[in-house]
Amino acid sequence: MKQHEHMPLLPIESGQGVWLTDFDGKRYLDGVSSWWVNLFGHNEPRIKSAISKQLDQLEHVMLAGFTHRPVVELSERLGKLTGLGHCFYASDGASATEIALKMSFHYWRNIGKPEKTQFLSLQNSYHGETIGALSVTDVPIFKDTYAPLLKSSMQMPTPDSRLAEQGADAQSVALRAAKELEDYVAQHHDRIAAFIVEPLVQCAAGMAMYHPVYLSRAREICNQYNIHLIADEIAVGFGRTGTLFACEQANIKPDFMCLSKGITAGYLPLSVTLTTDEIYQAFYDDSVARAFLHSHSYTGNALACSAALATLDIFEQDKVLENNRQTAQHLNQELAAWQGMPIAHLRNQGMIWAFDVSTNNPTFQRDFYREAISRGLLLRPIGNTVYFMPPYVIKSDEIDFMLQTTKEVLAICA
Ligand SMILES: Cc1ncc(COP(=O)(O)O)c(C=O)c1O
Repeated sequence: MKQHEHMPLLPIESGQGVWLTDFDGKRYLDGVSSWWVNLFGHNEPRIKSAISKQLDQLEHVMLAGFTHRPVVELSERLGKLTGLGHCFYASDGASATEIALKMSFHYWRNIGKPEKTQFLSLQNSYHGETIGALSVTDVPIFKDTYAPLLKSSMQMPTPDSRLAEQGADAQSVALRAAKELEDYVAQHHDRIAAFIVEPLVQCAAGMAMYHPVYLSRAREICNQYNIHLIADEIAVGFGRTGTLFACEQANIKPDFMCLSKGITAGYLPLSVTLTTDEIYQAFYDDSVARAFLHSHSYTGNALACSAALATLDIFEQDKVLENNRQTAQHLNQELAAWQGMPIAHLRNQGMIWAFDVSTNNPTFQRDFYREAISRGLLLRPIGNTVYFMPPYVIKSDEIDFMLQTTKEVLAICA
């Protein structure tokens, strides 16, 4: 809050498409989709109407002993789309991570392997900030203070393509990281419950992108050594990487998939952890102790589920993935003219763009944010990495504004 003495909070009155408007009528292009949740712009009429229809019927009922139409429909649709037939709902990403970790551990216990209690994640991983999720997160600024409260976990080398040495490519970095994963797992698999990973892009690490071969190898290694693979698609799911789910690009099915953020296109809080029949069956028993006793009050909220159904409808009606490919092509053409700028590792995956800024300015992150905001552009660099993650509905002239403003701001801050 002290920092806000120099940079007051921005009170937003309304939103329309990619634009947010404050109480003085000033507009800001939401270049980060309000922290990666808003897929189809603000004030999307079809999602509003779906929520409002649901509001006339049922706002909420607990899912303990009850069920309702939107949650059944959503589970069936997500089951078909992911190939994972069982859904466990919560309200935010961190809870979805917690559920996957607990369920993995409990599965092994139920099948007579209680010694499998360890979790692996990647270097620089981010899976949320509740105690369990933070335990598998590897971002010091979020984690260090709370270290005494956390369960220890092991971090595997990241397949981040930026680590490619001269002459090497993204695939060789990924294969090298996978080999190191395999070496570790081969020795310690008896105690490992699961490996949790952000497929294709480690977003909070600064949009670290990597080759899909890492995921295919990780799937094979987890199969071979009998550990679960948890795909945290909270940030990358719902079209962000170019396919509906990032795992599709490696042609793999994880044992758990965590979804949130874009699931309701930014309208209401909802998350889901999907899993397989095999894992579900290990809990199906007369004994309550073998059941998965985990609950949140708003689990499977009917309004949120109706927003998620409308989101899936829009993917179909508007051919979103196809249109995004065209938007990405246009943005990439524009960025091709950025040669000579003081930036490195200009990268793109689906509807995510990022580059690293070469600068000696120790307050680059803050300065960039402030200057961009003053020009009507909302971007939040992560360290010296600037990224674009706009709503999918961004139009050509809005892309031009976003890029032109970024250039101007770089000229001042870098
Ligand atoms: C990959 C990933 N996992 C988990 C989370 C946590 O989600 P939430 O902020 O909804 O708890 C995030 C949030 O940025 C994320 O990017």
